[in-house]
Amino acid sequence: MSGFGIYVHVPFCSALCPYCDFAVVVGGQDRHEAYCDAVIAEARAQRAVPIAASLFIGGGTPTVLSADVLRDLVERLRDVLPLAADAEVTIEANPESVTEDGMRAAAAAGVNRVSIGAQSFAPRVLRALGRTHSVGQISDAVRVSRAAGIENVSLDLIYGGPGETIADWTESLERALDEKPQHISAYALTIEVATPFGKAVARGAMSEPDQDDLAAKYEIACTTLEAAGYRHYEISNWARPGFESRHNILYWTQSDYIGLGIGAHSHRQGRRWWNTRALGRYLADPTQARDGEETLTASERDEEWLSLRMRLIDGVDIAEATARLGRDVRPAAKEGERAGLLVVEGQTLRLTTRGMLLENEVTLRLLESPPLALDMVEC
Ligand SMILES: C[S@@+](CC[C@H](N)C(=O)[O-])C[C@H]1O[C@@H](n2cnc3c(N)ncnc32)[C@H](O)[C@@H]1O
Ligand code: SF4
Repeated sequence: MSGFGIYVHVPFCSALCPYCDFAVVVGGQDRHEAYCDAVIAEARAQRAVPIAASLFIGGGTPTVLSADVLRDLVERLRDVLPLAADAEVTIEANPESVTEDGMRAAAAAGVNRVSIGAQSFAPRVLRALGRTHSVGQISDAVRVSRAAGIENVSLDLIYGGPGETIADWTESLERALDEKPQHISAYALTIEVATPFGKAVARGAMSEPDQDDLAAKYEIACTTLEAAGYRHYEISNWARPGFESRHNILYWTQSDYIGLGIGAHSHRQGRRWWNTRALGRYLADPTQARDGEETLTASERDEEWLSLRMRLIDGVDIAEATARLGRDVRPAAKEGERAGLLVVEGQTLRLTTRGMLLENEVTLRLLESPPLALDMVEC
């Protein structure tokens, strides 16, 4: 699949979750409008933007913006940037900040998908994760979104939070299914060094999530969600057929995208760049907010192609992998198959559920395959 995507980062949150390493500004209501103006100025400065198949307004918490500011942001983005008539337009939401006015405004501006950060349906785990919403507010957020006309709902879950039992996780999955979301993302809690959780782990006040516990919970997610009719299309993502996240598929297929706002990343034809995370610098001149850039070599792009494609349940074509990498991946594929980590079906190579848990190691093995003899490399 190919296409073009637009990501807009809205950094404002009402509180900082102790595991979060994203570019976040707590509070800052007085700068919401100035920030949206800056995003539009950055959008206007973009050159030769193709028609986009997806617009993703993420965060941070876009739903902390007032209904008027949110509608204005989405409408102006649509005026400035070319969006396909059938584009997927997603907004990220936190349950406690979903309001009827906000969702009606989002829907009126063309938002057709909402990704709600549920994280857990166990009250104790929600508290341990520093979330400020209740379980009831998750259901309310789903209901309010749909009543406003945004039928396509995705729920984000985190497993491995402090004190979470296997029973808590099973219950979370079942309660999530009760909401009948079109899409579910389930992420293992990652401890990021610079976060309050990272610092607590460093000083010995908290332990890292247990790897065996994470593996058991991952397998429960795979079994439960597949039994409920969700297609496990990417390592951490499940969807009803036809409701896969078009935006994230653009990332996994190395498509081009631009990112607007603080900390946002862009990619075009192997060139990547990213914005400053400093709000003050961004507001001062959003058109000069670039913080770094890099250009991948052809072989780095091909290696990245393999590791991204292996995340997808559709896997990779063995002949294409061999040609791109200039390596014979078949022996490593056979070895992975014997270890129950890979499946070879005809010309396709893909990870098993066990392989998905060890995706990095499996991909590394494939990348360490012996180079092809020169006369075997196709020109
Ligand atoms: C950055 S948040 C933005 C959306 C929204 N503010 C929220 O908290 O749900 C997007 C998603 O990333 C995931 N996430 C963020 N930090 C994580 C971490 N350290 N470990 C696992 N998942 C994480 C959560 O599931 C979250 O829903
Ligand atoms: S996880 Fe979401 S709500 Fe929490 S600080 Fe990060 S972006 Fe904000």
